Amino acid sequence: MNRALPWFQDCFPLYLAPMAGVSDKIFRQLCKEHGADVLTTEFVSAEGIFRRNERTREYLDFDEIERPIGVQLFGANAEHMAEAAKQVVDWVQPDFVDLNFGCPVNKVVSKNGGSALLKDCPTLASVASAVVRAIAPLPTTAKIRIGWDADSVNAVRVAEILGDAGIAALTVHGRTRAQGYSGAADWNVIGEVAAAASIPVIGNGDLGSANDVAKRRSETGIAGAMIGRAAMSAPWIFRETKTYLATRESVDPPTLGERWKLILRHCELIVQEWGAEEPAIRSMRARLMAYSKSMPEAKRLREKFSQVSTLAEVKIIAEENILNEENRNEGEARIQIPVFLGS
Ligand SMILES: Cc1cc2nc3c(=O)[nH]c(=O)nc-3n(C[C@H](O)[C@H](O)[C@H](O)COP(=O)(O)O)c2cc1C
Repeated sequence: MNRALPWFQDCFPLYLAPMAGVSDKIFRQLCKEHGADVLTTEFVSAEGIFRRNERTREYLDFDEIERPIGVQLFGANAEHMAEAAKQVVDWVQPDFVDLNFGCPVNKVVSKNGGSALLKDCPTLASVASAVVRAIAPLPTTAKIRIGWDADSVNAVRVAEILGDAGIAALTVHGRTRAQGYSGAADWNVIGEVAAAASIPVIGNGDLGSANDVAKRRSETGIAGAMIGRAAMSAPWIFRETKTYLATRESVDPPTLGERWKLILRHCELIVQEWGAEEPAIRSMRARLMAYSKSMPEAKRLREKFSQVSTLAEVKIIAEENILNEENRNEGEARIQIPVFLGS
């Protein structure tokens, strides 16, 4: 039994990916309601923890209902990372701390953080062991990319180093830093890591359906799966995947009405959280665009979403979209009848 991470006990946990600007408390809770097993905060800078700024505090905020939840930290200085991890544990008592060794953005890698540490294994090892020691027995996990670039894919070696450092589980996003989000995740490398590693490996990258998860699981022997962008347009992917893994039966996706109910609830919760409707709904524009991917008239919806500022406007768009879909279905039914009668 994995005492440190009991959610691997006889289970194949589904993680919501940490996503800066996306996986806030409200979205995490919506995903949990829709079947996500394990949540992680957006990444938090170890240096921000020292400064104890308001924004950092917000990133660390979660509700009890979100457990098991991890706080993700990034930074390149072992001592600071260990101290920041201890402070986080004192403040909010997460179920684990996750170390970000995968972030590709310049602002982070230029300070030797995120995926830059894939090129500097001694520092990576010292950061990992310092944090493991600082917060033990609370588990420390890590998230990596498969390497810095195509010529330096070293995920198997990095997994070994992290296992030796006492990391309890490892998420592997199957892209290099150089790829950013382009190209496809390399599930062969993820499979190699899963086969070689002494710790549970969570596979991540381009999982877009229950079927994808089942296929990658059987091909690679991963211990769990992490879903990011697909959950932004379809948070119900977790429930669908769980049902499919348990029964091999596909569940019907939510109806259009049910999707809109979820979207409107997301908007209402954000308005409540912000306490100011217009900035809250404007902050939802990108999120609404992501939802539109799973909706009819996606292009038109995107145009409308790029302008919304109030809940009332979102509701009008919802009503129109549902009505148009009903009309289209009726129209199709009318067209189909004569075809059917004539055949
Ligand atoms: C908007 C956005 C923000 C992200 N922020 C983080 C982050 O804070 N920490 C992290 O480890 N990965 C972050 N990622 C990467 C995701 O966790 C995940 O590894 C990646 O999106 C691939 O998974 P997917 O194909 O299921 O989306 C982010 C990705 C996106 C799209």
